[in-house]
Order: sequence, then structure tokens, then C-alpha cells
Amino acid sequence: MRESKMKSIVKMLSAGVMTSFLVASVANANSGGVHLDPANIDVHNKTSLLRGAKNFANYCQGCHSLKFSRANRIAADTGVSDDQIKAIIFTRDDENEPVKPGALMKSAIPQKDAAKWFGTAPPDLSLVGRSRGGDWIYNYLKSFYSDNSRPFGVNNTVFNNVGMPHVLLDLQGVQDPVYRYDLLHHGHAVEASFKSEEEAKKALEEERKFEVVKLDLFGESIVGAYDTEKEAADFVEANTTYKVLLDKKEVASFETKEEADKYVDANPVNGAKYKVVPKSAYSVKESHKVEKVIDHLELVKPGKQSPAEYEQTIRDLTNFLVYVSEPAQLNRSKYGVFTLIFLFIFFIFAYFLKKEYWKDVH
Ligand code: HEC
Repeated sequence: MRESKMKSIVKMLSAGVMTSFLVASVANANSGGVHLDPANIDVHNKTSLLRGAKNFANYCQGCHSLKFSRANRIAADTGVSDDQIKAIIFTRDDENEPVKPGALMKSAIPQKDAAKWFGTAPPDLSLVGRSRGGDWIYNYLKSFYSDNSRPFGVNNTVFNNVGMPHVLLDLQGVQDPVYRYDLLHHGHAVEASFKSEEEAKKALEEERKFEVVKLDLFGESIVGAYDTEKEAADFVEANTTYKVLLDKKEVASFETKEEADKYVDANPVNGAKYKVVPKSAYSVKESHKVEKVIDHLELVKPGKQSPAEYEQTIRDLTNFLVYVSEPAQLNRSKYGVFTLIFLFIFFIFAYFLKKEYWKDVH
């Protein structure tokens, strides 16, 4: 094979690889802007999957079903017997009979009541490993914090105003939010962060401008920036024209409101209604504002597990949910290797075949 041909094949292959990386990273970018720590799960770690399955049965299946999963499939995939899996995922059905390993994994809770109790019925979690992804689930289970304004006394930094109680509170312990104060420029760019509100307010006083914004066909543009609100308001007042409407139709326009009012007084009409409204679309906006945000969560009352143990618990749960969302992934890497070997052998044949065909052409 000539070198240039080799090069172009390598180029094509690497373009393909790049494209699939791009697609994969776009597909994973669904965290909604919250920072997510990596879950570091391994679906091939069978003891982790079994620990996850056990914790799921103990802590989650009361509310959440896995309606496409059966305990005996989990047993087969993780290499344990049906009896062993029965000991791990032990649940009872409505008649209080032990559930058979071949049965689908239902939740214990009646859906209708659940919606009433939690505001939202606990969703089936069969596909959450794919819809949310492992990192999201892991961080979600780590990010419950105390918030007395919520019905169950907890909120979640990854899922704001979540309807689910913190069912692992016992294990993790109580986390309190630690706030910081961000100085935002034009609503989004963070210019500085402060520990105390006073510091942030001081910085705000120093940085803040009152901007006069004009709205036209092309959107908003800033036409002036002032240190005080009064200066900005004066500018707006001086540059606002007024139009006189008669039954919603414009009949005259003036530099000042007084002139417009004078016109109305001087031209009385019967049965129709005048209205004087500002014409130019100026408004005043503050350039900076302070936003109170949660900086991090602090463990204020330890649970039964140490932070490291708890992280392992939720990593196992995440691992299990990611596996359940696509059990075939355990075998996929095996198929991948076979496919590559096949393609390689096929390539050799294709190459010689091509040589044979083109022999007479050259
Ligand atoms: C007491 C009932 C209850 C238990 C037990 C429970 N959950 Fe939930 N869970 C809910 C409810 C209700 C929601 C829906 C929250 C919402 O939409 O506001 C939810 C939502 C979720 C979601 C988000 C689903 C999504 O994509 O929106 C995940 C993930 C989840 N639960 C995982 C778990 C795990 C893991 C456990 C076990 C450790 C568990 N839950 C135990 C009630 C429960």
C-alpha cells in the first residue's frame, strides 16, 4: 500500500472517531448547568452491581419500579444463582408473598397515592441511567440539603425543589448549605464572589452603573451609563417624547408631557378619549446585581456511614441504575472487539479483491 493512501485512510478513521466523540459529549451535556463530579462507575464490577441492587431493593423500590428488569436476569448478568439473588433483592408482593426472581421489579407504592404524597409520582427508574446519566444520578444522591421551606425538610442542588425525600439521610447524615454572594454583570457573568453579603453589597455599590437602555428593532442597546439612578432618570425624561392618542390612534407628538397635556386641553372632542403616552422606548437598568447562591454543602450531622462509605453506596446504586438502563452494555465491549477483528480480516480480503479488479485497468 502506498504511503499517501495509508494516510488518507488514517485521516478518514480519525474523522470518524472525532465525530463519535463529539456526538457523545453533546449527548452527555444534559446536566442543566450544575457542576457534576464524575461518578467513576464500572458496570463490569459485579460486586458493586450486587451491592447496588441490594440497596435499591432496600431503599428505593418502596417507591420506584424497574419495570423492565427481573431479578433472575440481574443474577445471570452478575454470575450469582437465583437463590442468592433472592436473598439480595428480597421483596414481597401485595399478598405478602415473596416475589419470584422471574417477576418484573414493581414498586410497593400505589401510584395514585404517591402523586398526592410527593406532588409527583415517583417515576419508574428503568431508563434513568440513560436519560440523566450516571454522573447526574451520583451527584443527585449526594446533594440533598436541609431546607425547612420544603415539605420533607430537604432540597437538592442538582434537582431544585425535588419531590423526593432524602431516603438515605440515615446513612449520609445532615448537610447544610454554605452560601456565597456572586456579583453578576448584566445578569450572568460572575465578576466576583464574596463570603458575606455586606462585602458583596459594598462591591455592588462601587461597580454598579445605571444604564439607559433603548429598545429598537434590533433589540436592546445601551445609550448611557450613570453613577446614580437620578441622572439616568433625568436622561430618560429629557429624551422621551410623548404622543397623544385619540381613540388609540396617534394624532400628535411632543417633546414634553406638559406640551402634550396642553394640546389635549386645547382640543376638546366629544365622545372620544385622549391618552398621552411616552413614545421613545428608554428604560433604566442596573448593570450589576448580587445573587445568593449555594457554594457547597457541609456535613453538619454525620450519618451511619463515613463520607467515603456513603460515596461508595451511591456509586454502587448509580452503577446498578446505569447497568439496568441497558443490561446489554455488559457484553458490548466483547462484541466491539469481535467487530474490529472482523473488519480487519474483511479489509485484507477487500484490498486484494480491489487489486485484482483494477489489475487490467492500470
Ligand atoms: C418515598 C418515596 C421515594 C423513595 C423511597 C425514593 N424515591 Fe426517588 N423519587 C421519588 C419521587 C416522588 C421522585 C420525583 C421527584 C420530582 O419529580 O420532584 C423521585 C425522583 C427520583 C429520581 C429522578 C428521576 C428523574 O429523572 O427525574 C431519581 C434518580 C431517584 N428518585 C432515585 C432514587 C433512588 C436511587 C432511591 C433509593 C436510594 C430513591 N429514589 C428512593 C420518591 C422516592
